[in-house]
Amino acid sequence: MKIRVTAGNIAERDTDAVVVNLFEGVAAPSGATGALDAALGGAITGLIADGEISGKRGELTVIHTLGRIAPKRVVVAGLGERAAFTLDGVRDAAAESARRLAGIGVRAAATIAHGAGIGGLNGRDCAQAVAEGAVMGLYRFDKYKSNADGGGGGLDELAIVEYDGARVASMQAGVDEGVIIGEAVNLCRDMANAPANGMTPSDMAERALEVAEECGMGIEVFERARMRELGMGALLGVAQGSAEPPKFIILRYEGDAGNPDNNIGLLGKGITFDSGGLDIKSAAGMATMKGDMAGGAAVIGAMRAIGKLKPRINVTGIVAATENMPSGTAQRPGDVVRAMNGKTIEIDNTDAEGRLVLADAMAYARSVGIGRLVDVATLTGAVRVALGDKCMGAFGNDEAFTGAVVAAGNAVGERAWPMPMFDEYKAQYKSDIADIKNTGGSGGGAIIGALIIGEFSGGAPWVHLDIAGVARAGSTKGSAVKGATGAPVRTLVRLARDLA
Ligand code: BES
Ligand code: ZN
Ligand code: MN
Repeated sequence: MKIRVTAGNIAERDTDAVVVNLFEGVAAPSGATGALDAALGGAITGLIADGEISGKRGELTVIHTLGRIAPKRVVVAGLGERAAFTLDGVRDAAAESARRLAGIGVRAAATIAHGAGIGGLNGRDCAQAVAEGAVMGLYRFDKYKSNADGGGGGLDELAIVEYDGARVASMQAGVDEGVIIGEAVNLCRDMANAPANGMTPSDMAERALEVAEECGMGIEVFERARMRELGMGALLGVAQGSAEPPKFIILRYEGDAGNPDNNIGLLGKGITFDSGGLDIKSAAGMATMKGDMAGGAAVIGAMRAIGKLKPRINVTGIVAATENMPSGTAQRPGDVVRAMNGKTIEIDNTDAEGRLVLADAMAYARSVGIGRLVDVATLTGAVRVALGDKCMGAFGNDEAFTGAVVAAGNAVGERAWPMPMFDEYKAQYKSDIADIKNTGGSGGGAIIGALIIGEFSGGAPWVHLDIAGVARAGSTKGSAVKGATGAPVRTLVRLARDLA
């Protein structure tokens, strides 16, 4: 899909459909919506008066113009209450309307930048959000469908029509960024939606390699032998039950080569299938575990966008990728492993594997001089109990850095909620025979998981994002498409830019 910003009057566009909007409670729309209403002899105000259009968020009304004006159809997208309107509303309106148009076979359409007029938001930001929403909203995972055309052929061209020609250039810049960010989200979704036999650790490494080549980024992929040399016993312990070779993937973006200390590490849990290991999950518990590499996929997606947007900061993306399988070679409950930083861990439960692979990712990142760390993981069912699916949990050891990550999330509409990390919880994962064990009894499961990962931060500012609640969407709505959400790709990209 091509998205271009052009100057002009949307009511005069000779195209299959034009998209305008309406806030809830507005009886006499102004701006582009008002202009189209006038051109259609009051058709829109009539529908409002009849109660058929309310402006409710998510509402879409398609009006056929029957040759009265140049555009064949006018779509009115409801934006909800004006006081509650944010860039999220822009993204969702763009996503919903793009999906509807694609569904009825429209190939070329024009839209206004929702929010940039009467909505009062910044024009460039709105144009970016329209692009993100359209790209994210039109996402489909149809690689495995024999007949991939599941309704409409998809939108080929979207014009964002802006009345004020002076704003076009900056809005186009916003669009170009929005496309890069939306595509990064969709790359993450593609990886996390793929079945475990189509997204092995080797497949993840392959995707990372493609990103590296596309963006001119450095990449290294460690095999088992190198992991052994480095002493990554925690990661190797998880991997030893699987016939699939584990991969330790390192992507290096150098945006400030002269300042090596200006850096951040993005670390992803890349469990391409989590059976639980010998502490095997139930069938229901295992059902979505092909998506247990969503954190790693988010890191690879974010690295692609970062490589294209080129912020002035050095970003290292690390994915610890392996399956967690039961077998004759699998690690046993009670085994003790040693992580790369020398700490020993007693395996209390083989299903608490995310913290183990991240332990070595954290230790490795510290060993190569990375000074700030963000890890992303579908770590615990407990975080979903605590926070539901509307926000991720943010756990950290440095209030200011945690605040920066939460702020980056808020800025892009991916909410994160700071969680407590009191020292008293640490007693829960004491081991009788090793330095620590990998679980901590009942209560506060998401906090315990976070604290265990924090044992490997080597004193550096670190934030753990537990995305187990938000990584999958149960239904298609707004910019979310049923399946992998692609969170928190946009947060990570925003954070890298905020810190640059
Ligand atoms: N990958 C799971 C967490 C998970 C659960 C993600 C549901 C998405 C949806 C993780 O490896 C796991 O199994 N965690 C255990 C930890 C426990 C054994 C301490 C859990 O949450 O039950
Ligand atoms: Zn897991
Ligand atoms: Mn597990």
